[in-house]
Amino acid sequence: MNSSIKTEPTVFIIFGGTGDLTSRKIAPALYNLFLDGWLPAQYSIIGTGRTKFTDEQFSENLLKDINQFSRSGKADPKKWAEFSKNIHYQVSDINDFETYKEFGKRVEEHNTEWKTQANVIYYLAVSPNFFPIIASNISKAKLAEDPDRVRIVIEKPFGHDLETAKELNKLLSGIFNECQIYRIDHYLGKETVQNIMAFRFANSIMEPLWNRNYIEHVQISVTEQLGVEERGDYYDGAGAMRDMIQNHLLQLLCHIAMEPPVSFNADEVRNRKVDVLKAMRRFGPDDVRMSAVRGQYASGWMQGKEVPGYREEPKVDPESNTETFAAVKFFVDNWRWQNVPFYVRTGKRMHQSASVITIQFKDVPHLIFPTEAAESWQQNRLIISIQPEMSIRLQVQAKRPGLDMVLNTVDMVFDYKGTYTTQPPEAYETLILDTMLGDQTLFMRGDQVEAAWELIMPILSTWQTKKSLNFPNYSADSWGPESAEALIARDGFNWFTLPISKK
Ligand code: BG6
Repeated sequence: MNSSIKTEPTVFIIFGGTGDLTSRKIAPALYNLFLDGWLPAQYSIIGTGRTKFTDEQFSENLLKDINQFSRSGKADPKKWAEFSKNIHYQVSDINDFETYKEFGKRVEEHNTEWKTQANVIYYLAVSPNFFPIIASNISKAKLAEDPDRVRIVIEKPFGHDLETAKELNKLLSGIFNECQIYRIDHYLGKETVQNIMAFRFANSIMEPLWNRNYIEHVQISVTEQLGVEERGDYYDGAGAMRDMIQNHLLQLLCHIAMEPPVSFNADEVRNRKVDVLKAMRRFGPDDVRMSAVRGQYASGWMQGKEVPGYREEPKVDPESNTETFAAVKFFVDNWRWQNVPFYVRTGKRMHQSASVITIQFKDVPHLIFPTEAAESWQQNRLIISIQPEMSIRLQVQAKRPGLDMVLNTVDMVFDYKGTYTTQPPEAYETLILDTMLGDQTLFMRGDQVEAAWELIMPILSTWQTKKSLNFPNYSADSWGPESAEALIARDGFNWFTLPISKK
């Protein structure tokens, strides 16, 4: 633990305390923050849900979750006993105003016991339909009065489109100051994503090359082997564009394309990201046809197991028009990036699970080597691997040892595993700690979310009005539909085969 950073007494109230996100992410993150000494001496975790539980039953459930999902493995009984003393549960109906009065009482009890005014974090790990009613009731019960101490964490999806995102922003900003609102995009908490900024802005050697003069194109690829599985009810109303591109992939793009902020201050960093989103080229209906591709997976085999097609997944419309794959060619119209294409793609049931950003540099201006020497010639590439491998590799040409002059591609690699012995924190640990510290750098600001929606709305509208007649159009365990290959091939490029194959 960094001793210069101190968290203050905190009451952490989780709406959706018995839900999947709490089990898999929030509870393990809180426990690991405790193990690493980041939680304050005085804290209280209050889970809330409709099911009746005693504090002990709730805490036992969390223990099971932590044993299953925590990166630190099974909980140590002594540590657990210490940690779980501060776990509570309150059965609640989030539509009922009385519930909120009860929270108010609990916070007051803690304040009296701790002889201080604690920070209060309301974590909304619930379906987005409930965001408005919870926020309104918090306000009605006068639980959001102190902007320095009260914070609200909102999970994605933040809105279903530009209009609903604006409505939600309006409602929240009528109750909270922007500095109290923590909109989660969990990609921003990933160690390797944070490192993009360190790589770009803590080193001087990249900046002179980081522009249209040296970079030919950029590829951002986030592919998953998993299908939609149990999340059909949410996913069928969303699709890959809303679920992944509007948030995670556009944020990755912003990290690559942003100008250097003047400091590592939350608003400075977010201002520069908004600049990128605003500079992105808008799509007209014809551009959508040429620049965006959608796909939906068919049944097939993955790693020796037969898997259903998207339309056969539970809670999915058997005639669904929802895309499980999307690829888009974006441009950032500014001095740094004019006419450099940014190709992004994401999909489920793909051949490999990997999130990778590849920056391909321009070719040398003149090749001095004989053709035979350069048969496996490749332009320089910088490959930022976010997961499962965590690395940055720079691919350069080198002379293969021997008496003749033959060039081949070699990697200069920074690999987390080989460099550090400590296990990196999970994204949720970083984000929850930042919420406690009041640091919004890794959270989405209201205007950022709206700018991202605004950019993709023409694609969503076109896709909604024009049903895709060829769905399903890619098989499980493939690289997506052929039209995605055509999208990039038209410009003379191809999607890079990802160098890592794990998970
Ligand atoms: C979530 C999406 O935001 O991100 C999921 O809703 C997706 O559909 C997930 O699977 C991917 O996150 P990660 O961290 O596993 O890459």
